Amino acid sequence: MSDNTETPAAVTYSSYLKLDELLVLQQPRSEGPEHDELLFIIVHQVYELWFKELLHELDRVIRLLTDDESHRAQHTLKRILTILKVLVAQLDILETMTPLEFLSFRARLEAASGFQSDQFRQIEFVLGAKTLAAIGRFPAGSRAHRALTARFEQPTVWDAFLRYLSREGYAVPAGLLARDVTSEVQSSATLQEVLITVYRRDAKNAELCERLVDLDEGFQEWRYRHVRMVERTIGSKHGTGGSSGAAYLRNTVGANLFPDLWEIRAHL
Ligand code: HEM
Repeated sequence: MSDNTETPAAVTYSSYLKLDELLVLQQPRSEGPEHDELLFIIVHQVYELWFKELLHELDRVIRLLTDDESHRAQHTLKRILTILKVLVAQLDILETMTPLEFLSFRARLEAASGFQSDQFRQIEFVLGAKTLAAIGRFPAGSRAHRALTARFEQPTVWDAFLRYLSREGYAVPAGLLARDVTSEVQSSATLQEVLITVYRRDAKNAELCERLVDLDEGFQEWRYRHVRMVERTIGSKHGTGGSSGAAYLRNTVGANLFPDLWEIRAHL
């Protein structure tokens, strides 16, 4: 008598990681194809995977702060910071591509640009840098539009931190606790007084503040290194995404995500 129940295939390295699917996803558009296009595609795909992981971890930081698990939140922040270092280091690989090597396939990108990375915008949203314009660039009903709309409405890492601090007994202004989470984070002199007290008297929460400053700085470090790479690769040319290129990008460097944590430094 035959047994109709099929034994499921044993999990292998390849089946678990879906390698057959993964390894066909790198599809150069240039004739030949040009040697450097594969590197360009792989670096960008790896970035998008790390962006996915960063969002996963940033959501966890918000959850842990909401559950008053500050020690575990710090542990997760440490992981996020380590990933950010890898993201910055990856630019070194792309910088081995000369301007002429990039030009050999650049036209084939047409209007495609990292500017259109919705996961990058999602990370900005979770960190408090939200704009409706960023959502409007994606077609209504698309995965990107849905994801950004959901994150637009959600509290940011900064909101989770302020609410946590308030539950720790600090006099965080009520207006900040109930602020419109879709709006830009504004600096607050009253909150800065609270943060100065944290730094002077509360080593545990001062450490948490420092990890948020690391996060802010780490994100800016990526912006800075990206614009330098853009400058050395395309100089003052316009971007494929239609912006002025390096000139546009230079304007995005240096905007603090958590301004109060920077402003208090002059008063400590
Ligand atoms: C040769 C390599 C690269 C060049 C020449 C380049 C160039 C540019 C330019 C000119 C812009 C401005 C928007 C535009 O008009 O296109 C831009 C934006 C952007 N690029 Fe790149 N890029 C490169 C590599 C990368 C990589 C590896 C990533 C990783 C995902 C990336 C992510 C981004 C993001 C997220 C933006 C939007 C930044 C913002 O709006 O603040 N780029 N890029």
